[in-house]
Amino acid sequence: MAKFLVQKSDPLYGEVDISGAKNAVLPIMAAALLSSGSCEIMAVPTLRDVTVMCDLLRSIGATVHEDYENNKIIINTPKNVASEAPSELVSKMRASALVMGPLLAKTGMVRVPLPGGCAIGKRPIDLHLKGFQALGAEIIEGSDYVEAKADKLIGANIYLDFPSVGATENIITAAALAEGISVIENVAKEPEIVDLANFLNKMGAKIKGAGTDTIKIEGVSELSDCKHTVIPDRIETGTFMVAAAITKGNILIKNTLPNHLKPVIAKLRECGVTVEFDEENILVKGDMCKIQSTDIKTLPYPGFPTDMQPQFMALLTIANGTSIVKETVFENRFMHVAELIKMGADIKIDGNNSFIEGVSHLKGAKVKCTDLRAGAALVLAGLAAEGITEVSEIYHIERGYSDFVEKFRKLGADIRKIDD
Ligand code: EPZ
Repeated sequence: MAKFLVQKSDPLYGEVDISGAKNAVLPIMAAALLSSGSCEIMAVPTLRDVTVMCDLLRSIGATVHEDYENNKIIINTPKNVASEAPSELVSKMRASALVMGPLLAKTGMVRVPLPGGCAIGKRPIDLHLKGFQALGAEIIEGSDYVEAKADKLIGANIYLDFPSVGATENIITAAALAEGISVIENVAKEPEIVDLANFLNKMGAKIKGAGTDTIKIEGVSELSDCKHTVIPDRIETGTFMVAAAITKGNILIKNTLPNHLKPVIAKLRECGVTVEFDEENILVKGDMCKIQSTDIKTLPYPGFPTDMQPQFMALLTIANGTSIVKETVFENRFMHVAELIKMGADIKIDGNNSFIEGVSHLKGAKVKCTDLRAGAALVLAGLAAEGITEVSEIYHIERGYSDFVEKFRKLGADIRKIDD
């Protein structure tokens, strides 16, 4: 099994280009199933999850042309597609559940294996199913699968109990082809939702209000071809911002959208780090500061992103003073704590609160990735730790970061991928 060997690195310096967003491209690729033509998607990141989604779309009957040299994918979906997603693919990636809305809208029926939980939480899809039911679908839940069917979806008023990203995306794609008007309230406001709505509107959908907490959709009978460039990955951006701070380096992060990172910029500044930005670039200067402690509470967008919690915790382990990190989005997202403690961090957990007492330095150790962002946090900690940090189960990282090692090495990081 491959692993990373990370050594304490000199301050990272230089420029890094951000790739397209994983959490935007996956729902957009699933939504391409709604089109009766061809969808050309640009700025597609080279990721394991993207490959799995390509295989999933093919298994449903779409043709998918992958051109990673140009970061482009072309998806052609015939009128008739399958209504069932194969379990071997769904088990590889939770985001497979995002084909439910498009397939229900397109074929009147969808059946998927229950996605099940993952390291960070139980992650039920009850809000997705409640949305489909409100649009008139019948829901059948088996022991290991779920089915939704409807001769015709009818627009409805839906109020989400929680602004779930996935439920918002699945309900939008289902309602896009429903008869009449849907008004969905308390929806997720993440930039990836706005990107999905922009993609669908380019195909001829009538979606208003994405990015606010109420979305209004006037159903249409058909969606056609389109070309779309995916937004930059704000979590990849945030990860490199923390890399500059934790190594006391200076990194110019290019081709990103600072507007999407306001809470991360604010928290880094609270830690004493200099952050400057213009429309598409962020400059993080960590060389002149001693990291100060701060408190973090994760929340749905525009609050502090849960997908940046582990990386920030890694930074706070070497801050001056005590920090409190509260995780409110997922019930089990402190798996990285035990690994950081192996590296000499001083962290105590109490329910969904973690108390981090800054230490003068970390030390290298053998640590294991438990999920995507936890893995990235361990590499960041390894860049600041004395000695060698051996990070295993790195497939988690490769699911969500493209050219991870190359980008870090270009900035001067001492990181190598080795096969065990
Ligand atoms: C998306 O997951 C992202 N994944 C996650 O990123 C991200 O952490 C999450 O949104 C929150 O920002 C993708 O976009 C592919 P949710 P999703 O539905 O859609 C509960 C990463 O690292 N909930 O907003 O699954 C749920 O259990 C990944 O890139 C229900 O209870 O997130 C969780 O506690 C990790 N019932 C909370 O809501 C439901 O029907 C937020 O989940 C749906 C969700």
